[in-house]
This record gives sequence, C-alpha cells and structure tokens, in this order.
Amino acid sequence: MIEELNTLKQEIESKVNQTASTKELNDIRVEYLGKKGPIQSLSSKMGSLSVEEKKEFGRSLNMLKTEVNQLLENKKQELEQKELEERLKKETIDITLPSTELTVGGIHPITKIINEVEDLFVSMGYDVVEGPEVELDLYNFELLNLPKGHPARDSQDSFYITDEVLLRTQTSPVQARTMEANKEKKPIRVICPGKTYRRDNDDATHSHQFHQIEGLVVDENISLADLKGTLEILAKTMFGEDREIRLRPSFFPFTEPSIEVDVSCFKCGGKGCPLCKGTGWIEILGSGMVHPNVLRDNGYDPEKYTGFAFGMGPERIAMLKYGITDIRSFYTNDLRFLNDFNRVEGGE
Ligand code: DAH
Repeated sequence: MIEELNTLKQEIESKVNQTASTKELNDIRVEYLGKKGPIQSLSSKMGSLSVEEKKEFGRSLNMLKTEVNQLLENKKQELEQKELEERLKKETIDITLPSTELTVGGIHPITKIINEVEDLFVSMGYDVVEGPEVELDLYNFELLNLPKGHPARDSQDSFYITDEVLLRTQTSPVQARTMEANKEKKPIRVICPGKTYRRDNDDATHSHQFHQIEGLVVDENISLADLKGTLEILAKTMFGEDREIRLRPSFFPFTEPSIEVDVSCFKCGGKGCPLCKGTGWIEILGSGMVHPNVLRDNGYDPEKYTGFAFGMGPERIAMLKYGITDIRSFYTNDLRFLNDFNRVEGGE
C-alpha cells in the first residue's frame, strides 16, 4: 500500500505540473482529495491493517496529504500570478489611439450680453427680476399708460391669446409688476431680462421672438442726471471706456420725457463710417423718466417719488458688438456660427 501512495504522489505531481489554469487545478484537487478520491479510499482501507502497519501507513498518508496540499497551493499561486499578468497585458490602454473628440458648448451670445449687463447692474446694487412671458394686457399695456385703443399699441403688434392675455411684447410689464409687488412702496432698483414676442415677419433685422432688458429705478429725487450717468456707465462697459452717449428726445407712453440714447460709434470713434451711417452715433436703447401716471397707477405717489427706466435689446447690442448682420443667426443654432463666435470670444 505504501507503494500505491508513491505512485499516487507521482501521478499527482505530474498532473499538477502540466496544469495550465487554476480551474484545472481545482479539478485535480477535487479528483484526488475529494470524498470519492483515491486518498480517501486508501484511508478507508486502513481498517484491514495491523496496528503497526496502520501507524506507518497513517503517517505516510498524512504526509502525502500535506505534500499534495502544498503542491496544489504552490501551483495555484504560480498560476494566479501568471493569469494576472496576462490579464494586465491584455487590458493595457493603447494611448496612441486618437480619442473621440469631446465637443464643449459655449455661452450663447445673447446670454453673454445679458450676463454682462446683469453683472454690471448687480454691482451697482440692482436686483435681477423676471416676469411671465404669457402676460396680462393689464401689465403689458394698461398699467404702463397705454389704455385700450391707444395708438401706440399698434407699434407693438401682439400675439393675443385671449382679449386680456398675450405674449408680452416688451419687458416693461415687469416694471408694473415690481412696483405693484412692493407693498411698502420702498425705493426700487431692478434689471429685468427676458424673452419678448411681436407679430413681425422675420428678416435680417426682425424676429417674432427676441429679448429685452428693462431697467427701473424709483426713489425720491431721482433725476435725468441719474439716468444719464447710469447709461454712460452702461455704454462704456458694453462698448469701451472711450464711448460717449448722446440723448435725443423721443416718445414712449410710459416715460416723460422720453429719450433715445445713442453711443458714439465704436468702429470709427465718431468720425463717421458705414456702421454709424456716417453720423458717428449709433442708437442703443430707449429710456426716460417714469411717467407720473405709471407711478400713480402702480401705487407710488408721483409727488414724492420719481424714477427712470430704460429698455434695451440684447440682440441689437450683440449685433453691433460682434458685427453680426442677421438677427436670425441667434436662433437657428448653426454650430458654425456659434463656434465661430465662441472662438472669437474665447480669446483663442
Ligand atoms: N419697452 C420699450 C420698447 O419695447 C423700450 C423701452 C423704452 C423701455 C423706454 C423702457 C423705456 O423702460 O423707459 O420699445
């Protein structure tokens, strides 16, 4: 029987040596050390041996078990190491392969202008306020001194939803809403950016949907000088330190006096060029002193309070600033336009 143990040992050794995977190795373990394996069956035969023989055979059998276990363990470690190395080799990343290009979005030119204007006014203590795009006729017109039948309504061809509800034609209704919401009738300093809508036929300079940024200041002793100073800062921030502004009389129902604001041409410096049509000046926004009717209708005493307001179009500012000739390019989302713009603005 001792002989049998030796043969068994050699057999196991040679099998283990030839094994190429941990799975096969495990099969060997089960085959030889398992309940139905030869080692187990040899040990159950021990009953037929004499006490002396039993002692010797038992010792040899135990030794064999230990040796086989050691053998299997050593081989297992060797194979695991090899398998790990192979896996690492297979899974290495080929860094010479060109990667898929990640396209990163940029900030839309209109958003950029709105952000710049917001930053400026927030730095001067203004709040940013928004209003609904689906608006009541009451706020869009009536509370802004534009009663029903007022001829100036015609200049803002509107998308009506019902007789009393429309898509706002301007951001000025946020003025009325802000004054109304200010229950204690405290001073106001707000800037109100947002989308606006008019029944215009789209072409290079018209769009049925566009943006406006409204500004409103209401306090005691606010004068035209405050408006002028504020707009001067705005013009210099948007178009350059050397810019000057010019005020021209105009008409808006919600302001009195009403003022159109021009900035000195940033292309020719005021000498006259095609951009400023030879005048040296470019119109940038409408403004004025808040009409006493508007203050009164929205709960502010016009004897105590005065205010100024202005409304500008970010599309117009962006077109001037970046030399864009077709307003529709802002909305068609042509990546050639947007990327081109981002490159210029990204300072590459
Ligand atoms: N809402 C006017 C428009 O769409 C622009 C405007 C002009 C707004 C004068 C104002 C203002 O607040 O004072 O034409």
